[in-house]
Amino acid sequence: MDGRGSVPEVIVALDVEDVREALRLVQLLRGRIHRYKIGSRLFTAAGPEIVSRIRSGGGAVFLDLKFHDIPATVAGSVRAAVGHDVWMMTIHTSGGLEMMRAAAEAAAEEAVKCGVDRPLLVGVTVLTSLSAPDLAVFGPIDGGIEDLVLRLAAQASEAGLDGVVASVAEAERIKRDVGEGFIVVTPGIRPAGGAVHDQKRVATPAMAAHAGADFIVVGRSIIGADSPPEAAEQILNELLS
Ligand code: C5P
Repeated sequence: MDGRGSVPEVIVALDVEDVREALRLVQLLRGRIHRYKIGSRLFTAAGPEIVSRIRSGGGAVFLDLKFHDIPATVAGSVRAAVGHDVWMMTIHTSGGLEMMRAAAEAAAEEAVKCGVDRPLLVGVTVLTSLSAPDLAVFGPIDGGIEDLVLRLAAQASEAGLDGVVASVAEAERIKRDVGEGFIVVTPGIRPAGGAVHDQKRVATPAMAAHAGADFIVVGRSIIGADSPPEAAEQILNELLS
């Protein structure tokens, strides 16, 4: 460790369609993992009830539905998510400043109304499955992906979001330029020597820790392992190395 901050916490992405499989994984990982990401796949297949089932199994829920729409629609979706008492949730930063502001205001208001803690609102910057050639369709991007992510992160902070989802490659600069207190969640994590799958901008848990990430999101490397608890243990150990 470089001694800059604390060790990132692991969020396991429950990228499965089956409620029983999701609950089986939570049960298997109990004691090691306390935070679970429910994405569009599980949420669409299982419905909102999956949130309370994971919560009653002792897990904090990161609802990763990556809302991206006009401000009023995103604000309404955020209000609905707050009603499920989630710990963290995502919207897309590319929806613009006004959309992000509407989301942040809706989260704060609805939390007071529902008497729950306000969820942490984090903005998706550039998906870690995208590389520069994928983004070329939008035209030339000054400064490349890293500068684009930095600009989106700065705008997310201005809009009142708590942090962003970004790759490990950008984490250190976001912390330095936007602020140490601005949360950075990093997916695209692979244990040393692990399969890359469809991700293009990957890093190891140790690299994420050195870059100052607050949370790492790990999906297939844990849920697709022969032994998810052993895979989780390996990643937890790598974070300390
Ligand atoms: O299986 P793997 O570890 O690649 O899963 C990564 C998870 O993080 C997936 O649920 C994916 O939707 C999510 N994610 C991502 N890149 C982003 C934002 C979220 O891979 N920029």
